[in-house]
Amino acid sequence: MRLDWMGQSVQVRELGQGPSVVLVHGYPLDGAMWSGVARALSVRFRVLKPDLPGRGENPIPGDGRMDHYADFIEAVLSELPEPAGLAGFSMGGYAAFALLKRAPGKVGTLALVDTRAAADDEAGKAARAAAIDSVRSGGAPAIVEPMIRKLLAPASLQNAGLVERLRRIILRQKPETLESDLAAMRDRSDSSELLGRLQIPTIVLVGEEDVITPAAEARAMAGAIQGARFVSIPGAGHLTPMERPGAVASALGDFFGSALS
Ligand code: MLT
Repeated sequence: MRLDWMGQSVQVRELGQGPSVVLVHGYPLDGAMWSGVARALSVRFRVLKPDLPGRGENPIPGDGRMDHYADFIEAVLSELPEPAGLAGFSMGGYAAFALLKRAPGKVGTLALVDTRAAADDEAGKAARAAAIDSVRSGGAPAIVEPMIRKLLAPASLQNAGLVERLRRIILRQKPETLESDLAAMRDRSDSSELLGRLQIPTIVLVGEEDVITPAAEARAMAGAIQGARFVSIPGAGHLTPMERPGAVASALGDFFGSALS
């Protein structure tokens, strides 16, 4: 699909046919992080895996704000027949929350994947500032190895093919894109209060060994959303869609299959 966005025509990669499901990636990544899950889901769904602003041919807004990313997701959803599903991984989940706050009717079915509702605390904001300094001076190479170690469970770090694919995705990100992501995550508002008001089918999915958005917090988030399903994936860290694509696709396929039919 092609989308008019900020005065440009932007490609949104898609595969398969059926009810639409939009998979939104996290930091410091792009839509390719969803490739394995998207392939598996495409036997029953039309799967879209957009690159958020700043990736590929998608222009970057001047300043990093989560609302820009929410605007982009809203533009993608506006092109799709209803009902459509939305899955937000980590930063993609933060962007989904930003959209839900101002346009709740735009999202009819929601998957929250390795993400959290809480905003950054002071230590978290300081870590974002340090990471911004790193990417300004050294670009993606300055953050790639520490990020790989945080994103993957210890067992996944032994999978050389997976580590190499992940390294390639991170290294192709532009410094200004990484800075925009970091500023948007640092300044995002808390979404905890929204959870109790959500009235849409929701699944919360997390890797059991996630050290960025821990499983206990994800379980509590699911508990705060009326009727939400909770799935934890063994043997995965934060990056469950790349570490355990089959298990993630199976959980999302069951969920979207019943919610979108
Ligand atoms: C992500 O995976 O999108 C980020 O690592 C999330 C975060 O740093 O809060």
